[in-house]
Amino acid sequence: MVKISALQGISNIFQKQGSHGTPRRRTPKREHSWVDVSDDDLEVRSAKKQAASSSKAMHNPNHGHGPRKKPRVSAPAHLPSKEPIQMQRQQLPIYAGKDAVIDVIRQNDVTVLIGETGSGKTTQVPQYLFEAGLAGSGMIAVTQPRRVAATSLASRVASEKQTSVGSLVGYSVRFDEASSSNTKIKYLTDGMIVRELLGDPLLSRYSVVIVDEAHERTLRTDLLIANLKTILQARNGPTRSGKDDRGKGKGKAQESSGKLNPLKVVIMSATLEAEKFSRFFGGAKVVYVKGRQHPVTIYHTATSQPDYVDAALRTFFQVHLDQGPGDVLIFLPGQEDIESLEKSIQLYANQLPKDSLGVMILPLYASLQPARQAKIFASTPSGMRKVILATNIAETSITIPGVKYVIDTGKCKEKRYVAKNTGTGFDTLLTRDITQSSAVQRAGRAGREGKGYCFRLYTEDAFKKMPRTAEPEIRRCTLTSSLLQLKCLGQDLEELDFMDKPDAESIVSALKTLFLLGALDHTKSLTPLGRQMAAFPLEPPLARALVASAELGCTSEILTILSVLSASSKLFVDTHDAREEAADARKKFRHASGDHMTVLNVVKAYEDVSQSESKKARTDWCRRMFVNERCLAEAANIRAQLRDVCEKTSMDWKVSAEGQGQDGEARVLRAMVAGLVQNTAFLQPDGSYKQVMGPSVVKIHPSSSLADKKVPAIIYDELVYTTQIYARGVSAVPRSFIAEVPVLKRRTS
Ligand SMILES: Nc1ncnc2c1ncn2[C@@H]1O[C@H](COP(=O)(O)OP(=O)(O)O)[C@@H](O)[C@H]1O
Ligand SMILES: [Mg+2]
Repeated sequence: MVKISALQGISNIFQKQGSHGTPRRRTPKREHSWVDVSDDDLEVRSAKKQAASSSKAMHNPNHGHGPRKKPRVSAPAHLPSKEPIQMQRQQLPIYAGKDAVIDVIRQNDVTVLIGETGSGKTTQVPQYLFEAGLAGSGMIAVTQPRRVAATSLASRVASEKQTSVGSLVGYSVRFDEASSSNTKIKYLTDGMIVRELLGDPLLSRYSVVIVDEAHERTLRTDLLIANLKTILQARNGPTRSGKDDRGKGKGKAQESSGKLNPLKVVIMSATLEAEKFSRFFGGAKVVYVKGRQHPVTIYHTATSQPDYVDAALRTFFQVHLDQGPGDVLIFLPGQEDIESLEKSIQLYANQLPKDSLGVMILPLYASLQPARQAKIFASTPSGMRKVILATNIAETSITIPGVKYVIDTGKCKEKRYVAKNTGTGFDTLLTRDITQSSAVQRAGRAGREGKGYCFRLYTEDAFKKMPRTAEPEIRRCTLTSSLLQLKCLGQDLEELDFMDKPDAESIVSALKTLFLLGALDHTKSLTPLGRQMAAFPLEPPLARALVASAELGCTSEILTILSVLSASSKLFVDTHDAREEAADARKKFRHASGDHMTVLNVVKAYEDVSQSESKKARTDWCRRMFVNERCLAEAANIRAQLRDVCEKTSMDWKVSAEGQGQDGEARVLRAMVAGLVQNTAFLQPDGSYKQVMGPSVVKIHPSSSLADKKVPAIIYDELVYTTQIYARGVSAVPRSFIAEVPVLKRRTS
């Protein structure tokens, strides 16, 4: 029998004893240790107020008029999801407001559409607009902050339209695309549409751009929104985006834009500061879709839980043992916690009685291979309960079939730019408490197909103390890559009209990086080199290394290294159980210069094995060598994509330094130095390394093949902050390589 002590109070939520229920303590005091708040209390309050005052509300007959009653767990039965798909569509709250939605969007250039999660915004609105002919001869773009959302939504909507993905309904995400000349509705990540701006600055192939989950305020969404404002002026003429559009503003711009097809913009979210978006677009129309499909009952813990992974474990087994069918979605901050919880759940699941439901564990995080991510959408085999361990990438947009219970640890990782004392600045991921908006979205994942339950592993008080929304990413991330993209569009970060202005310090740091890489000249103008770099879907330093490789005749090698660095998982498997064996295996690939050439050795060895051995032998080899085959497979895919870009920009990707001995190796390292110019450090007399471009003293990370080695100069992929500052992905390079980088000549001579 599984021995996991119950999370304090949680047993009392449930009245029914499950078939394998653990004996319950009957301590009356604990009767109320979980606090039941109906999800209605969690509506984002401003939206509610605005709905009553300034905006048009659409009423869903299913949900009644006037003051809304709190949905109860025993709310009217919903349609089971086995219902034919067209019937399901008509049951969605937004269906009642279909004509009104179409009308408003038809009459306005910009519409802000707010509706609760599950109301049908993301899957239905694009179809309504398409059916109403609003796409015209163009396409409808629906942007998503995350690729897993873009791809899964495309496949859902394609099946609603009874076609396959890539025909009428398609998607486009980094390193993957499914669309054709017939595609009319395209789900794409905000990053991809910003990239499309480079080739099509007016987004002329789109008639409608729907910015979904706008509340997340990712950097790319903000960039897109800023550009949409100018595109609207170019394509539709001035002042048409506002309400006060009656005949005014028929100036020159409008006449000259007469030939351009007009653009419709729809900003969508469940939890949004609607007024702020509306104001930004000069008073855009705000529309509220009323009603949600299924109720979610939310529970908070009575006391705070210091160990959220352990609390999640215990809550999961209480659900598993006490509750009826339904899959479970657990929100955790990051991959490490997911892996640790996966192990613990597996351990206890193995000890469950034979007749109990089996447990099928599926991790979901951004760096997981897309094919493995997609597994969460498969239906649960009978006799099993699916439990998905996810980061916040499952928080918005997606519907995971079968999920009825959500367990929310209340934590997430947030990207934050650290400029202090490092000289150059970099993004780091910090674990922190989520926002109320995230908490609402997370709970919403439980009520997509039927009534659901959400267990929050924090107190109601903690919820109330959470900030309402997160700080926009543009205020807390590296801007280098965005700045470069904007420069290609002839725009400036400082001058573009953003909803929130980026931090001056981040702008300066991005300008400095691009100048050092040679992408901008001293007048901050884009150089031909900068334009060449921007063609690659890579961070500017890596793009710089690739461009340098062409001159140095080692593009083939650099492509291999960069694709491994761009893969979502690490090349070497970290294992605590077999550290020594892993280190021994790794020695076979070790290159004296360090980690970059070591990557090449691994890829070469893997390719040799792949050519001569079976698939199974190859996998076996990876296991014995403690090499991550998934990383290699993904890298091969990325390499192919980068190769295509090389071809498009007439760069010879075949040129190689192979077989040219030390000279060849030196050229590969030189190309890396050109990109990692800001990530360089010199050995000090006391044995430490000091950054060439910054004041910090760094140590070589223990995972590096150069750990504990003393070499005159190093380059590194990234810095990791723990108790000390560690450089990870390190190679030794002659000091002269660093000194020969043009901008460094003065400093180092
Ligand atoms: N992949 C899917 N599988 C099953 N049902 C789905 C899927 N995608 C959407 N649905 C159904 O459609 C509803 C509305 O989804 P969606 O349009 O994404 O809503 P919103 O964007 O308003 O949150 C979901 O609550 C769910 O019932
Ligand atoms: Mg949605």
